[in-house]
Amino acid sequence: MTLEKAKERVDILSTKLHDLNKRYYVDGVQDISDQEFDLMMHELQELEVEFPTLLKTTSPTQRVGGEPTKNFKTVAHESPMLSLSNTYNKEDLIEFNDRILKDLNTQVDYVCELKYDGVAISLIYEHGALIQAVTRGDGIQGDDVTVNARTIRSLPLQLVGDYPERFEVRGEVFMSKQSFEENNKRIELENIDRIANNKKAQILLANPRNACAGALKQQDPKKVAERKLDVYIYGIVGQVETITTHFDGLNRLKEWGFNLPNTFEKVTSIDEVWTFIEKWGKNRHDLPLETDGVVIKVDSEEFHKKLGATAKSPRWAIAYKYKAEAAKTLLKSVTYQVGRTGAITPVANLEAVQLAGTTVRRASLHNANEIARLDLHINDKVYVEKGGEIIPKITGVDVSDREKDAQPLEFITNCPACNSVLERQEGEAQHYCLNITSCPPQVKGRIQHFVARKAMNIDSIGGETIDQLIEKGLIANVADFYDLTAEALSDKMERFKDKSIENLLNGVIASKNIPYERVLFALGIRHVGSTIAEKLSEVFKNIDALLSATEEQIAEVYEVGGQIAKSIINFKEAPENLFLIDRLKAAGLQFEVVEKETVGTLEDKLFVCTGTFEIFSRNEMHDLIKEHGGKVRTSISAKIDYLVAGEKAGSKLKKAEKLGVTVLTEEEFKNLIEG
Ligand code: IVH
Repeated sequence: MTLEKAKERVDILSTKLHDLNKRYYVDGVQDISDQEFDLMMHELQELEVEFPTLLKTTSPTQRVGGEPTKNFKTVAHESPMLSLSNTYNKEDLIEFNDRILKDLNTQVDYVCELKYDGVAISLIYEHGALIQAVTRGDGIQGDDVTVNARTIRSLPLQLVGDYPERFEVRGEVFMSKQSFEENNKRIELENIDRIANNKKAQILLANPRNACAGALKQQDPKKVAERKLDVYIYGIVGQVETITTHFDGLNRLKEWGFNLPNTFEKVTSIDEVWTFIEKWGKNRHDLPLETDGVVIKVDSEEFHKKLGATAKSPRWAIAYKYKAEAAKTLLKSVTYQVGRTGAITPVANLEAVQLAGTTVRRASLHNANEIARLDLHINDKVYVEKGGEIIPKITGVDVSDREKDAQPLEFITNCPACNSVLERQEGEAQHYCLNITSCPPQVKGRIQHFVARKAMNIDSIGGETIDQLIEKGLIANVADFYDLTAEALSDKMERFKDKSIENLLNGVIASKNIPYERVLFALGIRHVGSTIAEKLSEVFKNIDALLSATEEQIAEVYEVGGQIAKSIINFKEAPENLFLIDRLKAAGLQFEVVEKETVGTLEDKLFVCTGTFEIFSRNEMHDLIKEHGGKVRTSISAKIDYLVAGEKAGSKLKKAEKLGVTVLTEEEFKNLIEG
């Protein structure tokens, strides 16, 4: 095939596939079978491979996700991405209307839209092609997530009709309730082995909004594509000739191929706005996405200009937020869960009740203080509310509905798993079971934590395998992994074939290369998370240095406070922990920092970076500092050696100047690095 013929075919296929995609993902109509669609897509892919010059970034083939990016480029918004001021009641809404009528001295029409609960995005189109997608960031600059945005099926990569030559639209990327459910089902299946009941909340996506934000920041676009995000557009930035009202603008956006819901309405008075709010207050849970309010916008573009904006938000729009929904139900009982550190978490078991479109059976109670604060009694009628978390919380009790002889809920005194007496240290909210060595959920929890991805990453060992290893007496602690033999495994483990044995042992061997800071995290010392472990390893470069440090020396480490220091001291005071570390050392685990080849020019110098940069992204700058032996900090103090200040550097620059901290431009920083 000649290049010319190929170009003709690529154009035909691209146009057809864009149109079919829009029909399916925006209009909800399927015109051809999946098979026929795949055939056309395949033909296009092959042509693009054979004639690489024909491959455009807007090609329908780009939706599956391109190459991973290391860091997102920081991009300044052409005009700031403002936010909306919020109201929570009718009076404030009437006040908003009164102010507008007074300022304009005339009646106005409003457009009511739902407030889509997702992540704001700015999209720039040139000659109808999507050329840039940027997150809101701090409103002034955001992350360039164009490759990720291209995977969103309801986002047009190529527009149709009489669109302006170059323009920006803004909208909300979201994860539909259905995609959220599907993603969580998939994650649960993928992790079936590692999900102990009390770990579930940490592994599953917490809510569609966070899940969407997380997905959009994924560095691998293929993973973004997998999460099945969606987008609704809610406005054009700036004036477009021939568009004089917001309502017309929204309809034109639809004509050009953008995805907008059919829920927006033009109304002529604040009473009608209220009717819209009430209608969706009742019906919003039936929508495919989560919405927590309504956005009310003055319709006329001319009035937008007249009313203007404050530094934070436009004066021509406001958001009405629905109250968090509450439901009343019966508190049947409280179950106490034991975590890997021995922490006891009470969970309320409720009579099933419908709340914000889902059935609620459990609510988190956090600790004994929370139970006391709520003054909970058995069989109380409690109010539950759903915030951003998977497990809803109890916000109050209907005391008028309490039985006369109801008994106050007493926190348990003994561990539900091993019956040891629980303790609560001064200043701590949580009760703990101190039977570290033989309380079963603690033993298992610690082992599970040890093999977890962020720790030793032994993915050949899941929850069920751990159960069996413990049950068969093959392991009682994490050091026992390193004494396992193929013979013992094949003798004792059920349904464990050669391949599983080989995988398990290979995983264990590979873990000996895991760097010190992760081994430190894997030890599961109370309050020592992965970031703290990293900070500690920067200062105490091997385990002996850490274990011989005093509480004060540990507490002095940046971001490590007294509580963490105390916990490390407690850890080392238990002989069994020292014995465990000795065994792990003997097994060959990494217990000291392997110094990376740093270029060394910035040895131990402390840096803060602020403002916007042109040469490096913020992350690249941080990596360079670390590679050269320096350290990155976030706030200015007299201890800081350098502040690298970019465009629009604000209060940090002022503070640095006041404290006499050396301020570098991006260029000066580059020179410093390059020596
Ligand atoms: S208009 C000046 N319309 O709500 C801002 N925003 O604080 C103009 N949002 O993060 C925004 N649905 O992304 C507008 N129908 C809608 C919206 C909407 C959700 C988000 C927006 C921003 C936040 C406003």
